[in-house]
Amino acid sequence: MYHTSYIELDEKAYSRNLSYLKNKFGPDTVFSSVIKGNAYGHGIEHMLPLGEKYGIRHFSVFSADEALKACKVRSEGSEIMIMGMIDDPELEWAVSNGVSFYVFEQGRLEAAAQAARKTGRKARIHIEFETGMYRTGFEKPELKKALDFIYENREHITVEGLCTHYAGAESVSNYLRVKKQIKVFGKLLKVVQQSGVPYGKCHTACSAAAIRYPKTTMDLVRIGIAQYGLWPNRETFMHDVVEKNGNEISENPLQRVISWKSQVMSVKEVPGNRFIGYGSSYLTNDTTIMATVPVGYTHGFNRSLSNLGRVLVNGKRVPVIGLVNMNMMMVDVTQVQGVQKGSRVVIIGTDGGIDLTIGSFAELTNRLNYETLARLPQDIPRYIV
Ligand SMILES: Cc1ncc(COP(=O)(O)O)c(C=O)c1O
Repeated sequence: MYHTSYIELDEKAYSRNLSYLKNKFGPDTVFSSVIKGNAYGHGIEHMLPLGEKYGIRHFSVFSADEALKACKVRSEGSEIMIMGMIDDPELEWAVSNGVSFYVFEQGRLEAAAQAARKTGRKARIHIEFETGMYRTGFEKPELKKALDFIYENREHITVEGLCTHYAGAESVSNYLRVKKQIKVFGKLLKVVQQSGVPYGKCHTACSAAAIRYPKTTMDLVRIGIAQYGLWPNRETFMHDVVEKNGNEISENPLQRVISWKSQVMSVKEVPGNRFIGYGSSYLTNDTTIMATVPVGYTHGFNRSLSNLGRVLVNGKRVPVIGLVNMNMMMVDVTQVQGVQKGSRVVIIGTDGGIDLTIGSFAELTNRLNYETLARLPQDIPRYIV
């Protein structure tokens, strides 16, 4: 193989996650699959068609480059929505390809109308409200001005949606802030209703909001992490699976979609009292059988996992010894029988009944599961299994 590791995407797990989530949100709520960050590391070009196979027709990305990628693999009738960055010159492309986008400032609104005039197609926009996240979004006075502009330019602009994002719906410590945001959304919605500007769908919920605050699901939910089989955090899992189940722990209804695998590159016997690899961070006590795995920090295996991380070799959990290098790491396989060049290595996933979760990987590196996934390089080959 030309690559040093590969990613497997579990189709069955994905379809089960979708069924569980869609069932929870009900048939009247559109399910938008959030595929920004290269579909949370899973790969846009794999996850979008897979989503379509299981009935998803709405996809959310962050930026124009991701929208372009998504457009290349989408089927007719699938909607692409940009939730963040698109520069004025790309608006014409978005408008002529029917890609909808968030508008959170007057400048983009005017540029959208201009692009619509130029292309002869209507700009499909989502008005983002500032409800208390303080990232992007119109506050009330700006919103009124924007609505006047939209009304005057109604032949060129369609308001497809009204939206906001919550500032940490996964954590109970943000409860009051989120509740306040929900109220502010309601108030700004009234402003739109009073303006007489027609609007499409109201959408505010990410995975955590949709799970913890069912009222936020409205007409459309933007679901990222949960569809990939992961919980936004442990609290959300406890809320959904344990509290709602009479405090009984039931089976996790979400299943991880991704696994990350490699193989042993070489095996070496190292005598006792020798430093392994660069520097002097690991000294062997006794004779050690060491395997080299061709995955390093360039592939997304964090250097902070030096002398700390674990991988599975032939279905056994083994420690990383020494520093993680740019392209490889060394692991101690003294206790594992029969390790040789080509032996199975699992970095994230299950082998021999042992599971190496993204959560444990993320915890050791002090990274969110979101970050761990999104940092997986785009050029690792992905296969649907
Ligand atoms: C605007 C917006 N909506 C939805 C999501 C999806 O969030 P999650 O992955 O927690 O479902 C995100 C992700 O950060 C986002 O920025």
